Amino acid sequence: MARAVPADPHDGEALAKRIENRWALTMVGLVALLVAMVIFTGLHWATMPPSRVETINPSTLHVAGEFVESNLGSAVEADGSITVRIVGQQYSFTPQCIVVPSRTPVTFRVTSADVIHGMLITGTNINSMVSPGYISTFKTRFERPGDHLMPCHEFCGTGHEGMWANVKVVEPDAFARLVGPTRRASCDL
Ligand code: CUA
Repeated sequence: MARAVPADPHDGEALAKRIENRWALTMVGLVALLVAMVIFTGLHWATMPPSRVETINPSTLHVAGEFVESNLGSAVEADGSITVRIVGQQYSFTPQCIVVPSRTPVTFRVTSADVIHGMLITGTNINSMVSPGYISTFKTRFERPGDHLMPCHEFCGTGHEGMWANVKVVEPDAFARLVGPTRRASCDL
């Protein structure tokens, strides 16, 4: 007659220990992975602006280089895309009015001549800090013609609330008529 073998309490303990060890190792591995992710993202992304780091000397902006006044505003690139260059300073953006074509790739390049400003374009997801010493770059595309406001959204001094510009999105053929011989367009033309 077969007798049921009673469970060995010592085997049960060994089994529990194995399972506990497995879970402990899993947790240690998980913590190590999270710490590694924190270190990785800290080293790679902690330096703002987040798109990528491109620096510029804010004290010589108006004298030489990409952000001299004659180079600001909308420029038509060889591939037909538009690059818009803007300088923010207490308490205005230069240029004050920006015109871009709809349904066309647009790259904004923005920097500050003095303190930290911000910019956003109403009705879009464009929103960036504008820091002296850095160029904020972002690519976008406006699907429909229309007028947008571009206020400074970072408190930058007593004139902060008066710091804003206009962004006019026009049909591509209307934009083409605004483009001058220097392959640039502005609202004033
Ligand atoms: Cu510039 Cu607020």
